[in-house]
Amino acid sequence: MQSYFKWSDWIIGFLCLLRFCDSLNNGLALTPPMGWMSWQRYRCNVDCYNYPNDCLSEMLIKRIADLMVSEGYKDAGYEYLIIDDCWLNKTRGRNGELLEDAERFPSGMKNLSNYVRPTNKS
Ligand SMILES: *[C@@H]1O[C@H](CO)[C@@H](O)[C@H](O)[C@H]1NC(C)=O
Ligand SMILES: *[C@@H]1O[C@H](CO)[C@@H](O)[C@H](O)[C@H]1NC(C)=O
Repeated sequence: MQSYFKWSDWIIGFLCLLRFCDSLNNGLALTPPMGWMSWQRYRCNVDCYNYPNDCLSEMLIKRIADLMVSEGYKDAGYEYLIIDDCWLNKTRGRNGELLEDAERFPSGMKNLSNYVRPTNKS
């Protein structure tokens, strides 16, 4: 069976045990990127007729954003809210641009992103 570690990993690990190695302490990246992504829970549920509270829609994303604040996730460092997939209209715009599904995201993605992150006005 092949070892997962290389001999150099063992030497570095041993030196770190003896406190002969140090990591950069500049206050950056103290946590991994933390956030919430729609896919693991909601997959590609676009059926808002039968599942009005569990389909991918701006209502769902706003609800998740509100919960990230009210349940303390934002204060704990969760800063990303990612809509993974299935937000698109099946056809593109006149110039080939991606469009949201206007039935499930009637206010548009820009408006939704301003709701989620009010300071992001670009
Ligand atoms: C998709 O885009 C087309 C063309 O802009 C539009 O007519 C249609 O209503 C849109 N459908 C949805 C569900 O957003
Ligand atoms: C965009 O968001 C604002 C504030 O949330 C809201 O008042 C406005 O009606 C929205 N615009 C559209 C087109 O939905």
